[in-house]
Amino acid sequence: MNLKEHLDNPVFPIITSVADEEGLECYVIGGFVRDILLKRHSKDIDVVVVGSGVDFATKVAHKLGKGTHLAVYRNFGTAQVHKKNIEVEFVGARRESYSRDSRKPIVEDGTLRDDQNRRDFTINALALSLNSATFGEMLDPFNGLEDLDNKIIRTPLDPDITFSDDPLRMMRAIRFATQLGFYIEQRTFDAIARNASRIEIISKERILDELNKMILSPKPSMGFLLLEEAGLLELIFPELHALKGVETREGMGHKDNFRHTLTVLDNVAEKSDDLWLRWAAVFHDLGKPASKRFDKKLGWTFHNHNYIGAKMVPPIFRRMKMPVGEPMRFVRNLVMLHMRPIVLSEDEITDSAIRRLLFEAGDDLESLMLLCEADITSKNPERVKRYSRNFAIVRKKLKDIEEKDRIRNFQPPVSGKVIMETFNLSPCAEVGVIKEAIKDAILDGLIPNEYDAAYEFMLKKAAEIGLSKP
Ligand code: CTP
Repeated sequence: MNLKEHLDNPVFPIITSVADEEGLECYVIGGFVRDILLKRHSKDIDVVVVGSGVDFATKVAHKLGKGTHLAVYRNFGTAQVHKKNIEVEFVGARRESYSRDSRKPIVEDGTLRDDQNRRDFTINALALSLNSATFGEMLDPFNGLEDLDNKIIRTPLDPDITFSDDPLRMMRAIRFATQLGFYIEQRTFDAIARNASRIEIISKERILDELNKMILSPKPSMGFLLLEEAGLLELIFPELHALKGVETREGMGHKDNFRHTLTVLDNVAEKSDDLWLRWAAVFHDLGKPASKRFDKKLGWTFHNHNYIGAKMVPPIFRRMKMPVGEPMRFVRNLVMLHMRPIVLSEDEITDSAIRRLLFEAGDDLESLMLLCEADITSKNPERVKRYSRNFAIVRKKLKDIEEKDRIRNFQPPVSGKVIMETFNLSPCAEVGVIKEAIKDAILDGLIPNEYDAAYEFMLKKAAEIGLSKP
């Protein structure tokens, strides 16, 4: 097969001329070739040179001329050439093996075939020649093309060796399967299950990167099911693994919360590409195992699982090296509030409850409603219909009250500063009490969200706790 018509990037003729002048074999390899065949947009161009990748890159950078940036990583024997929207990584063909307890490779020069051997999957080991005589010809020693057609993830070598060389590849196998809708060949999958514990030498950041790519796939549940089946989930995310299983007592069972969570995640994924909203779906029921109780009358209950779950968010974010700023706040808030709309829809909906939800959800309200709608996974069509109808009512009420009272992101109209000035106070507990009382009075609808009414209310409340204007 020849794919030269796809090698239309202006950098390729320059690489070809350097390769011919130097008399060196040179190939574009890996994800770039795979993505041409999958008709996906490919960003990175990786080039293997049978010789010194760094020397070769230096010559290419020279030919590209002004405005070219060259970054050399001598320790890894790689170099990156960058000019405007052209970015190419050069590496010398290598034979490589890793010592058992480190990712630091022992590297020797090798042939193209050696280099292909040490790649992760057959579909990622395809190479296209860049030398002029054979320009665009494909070198496919492991039938990667056939695996692409048959949608199969398989390692080029014995999978135990490939995964032991770099255990992150176990996550990559599952991530590619999820992203592309591929099947992991049985022998390869068995090796993942066998080598799962080796994931411990991989950095949290690299693991998270794979999880994020998996979660952003069209049907992310597939990835979590594979992680679970391979025994990886228990090691990298034990709290999610703990949701698995059904307990039955006195003929009453509860649903499998792992399956339920994955359904919610897929439901959210159908509606939104937001990474953190999808993570919120993964986290939303993590408090269930710790809150599970059995009651003869009520059956299984998970009281306060949303609060328990919200408390679990920060330590998990820290451990998994997830961003602890805005994304953590958002996920935590959604986990905490995720029961609110459903409870609202079951009770009689008071204006005051709606105002409190608007106040607490703030800008997260749309995401919260989407998560809650995705959380309806009942198989009973009557129940689903009832919930959907009630949610529509909640949405309408939220809109009406927001238009009327503008509660979302509101700051109490009388500030702590005004309270302190009025009663000649320094910062103290009483200021907080009065401020909180004003906020509650507005949310409960006792007074409108306006300065004059809040000021009057402040005077009344202050008098109750024995304060008066000096
Ligand atoms: N590779 C590998 N083992 C790894 C990572 C990468 O063998 N742990 C090889 C594969 O041949 C891969 C190439 O290096 O195709 C480039 O890796 P990278 O850019 O990380 O991934 P891509 O395959 O391009 O895919 P994506 O960009 O989706 O991560």
